[in-house]
Amino acid sequence: MNVDPRTLGWLSRALTHEMGAVQQYLAQSVLARLWGDEALATKLRKEADEELEHAERLMQRLIQFGVAPSSGNLPPTRLGRSAQDLLAADRVLEIDAVRLYREAIVHAERMRDPETAALLESILDEEIAHVHQLDGMMNRQIEHG
Ligand SMILES: [Fe+2]
Ligand SMILES: [Fe+2]
Repeated sequence: MNVDPRTLGWLSRALTHEMGAVQQYLAQSVLARLWGDEALATKLRKEADEELEHAERLMQRLIQFGVAPSSGNLPPTRLGRSAQDLLAADRVLEIDAVRLYREAIVHAERMRDPETAALLESILDEEIAHVHQLDGMMNRQIEHG
């Protein structure tokens, strides 16, 4: 298969994002558990699983292209002193993801690679859902302290 190197670049960039997201949600889940906030810890742990699944799907596409998946340096984990801090940091992460996937989709479409575009679009939908989920969680935090 003739592989466009910039498509590989977008897939690798997305993989780095996802591995960074796994690291951040996992670390935040550990922190929330140390605070004794078991409900938040469980939610964040579930997010880490969802991001791991995104990484897995990107890896599959890279392997189909004949490339060994390898994420670059992971961005630093953002923690905080309260649930509100953590959720705000996660919202930044998810907005970055939405931006990244939108740009990657434009590229895949330009390269007439519908299979990669469809993969990226389905992950994009889930990242948009993550933003809405975080907004809901942040509103509940404000209402209930
Ligand atoms: Fe993700
Ligand atoms: Fe996400």
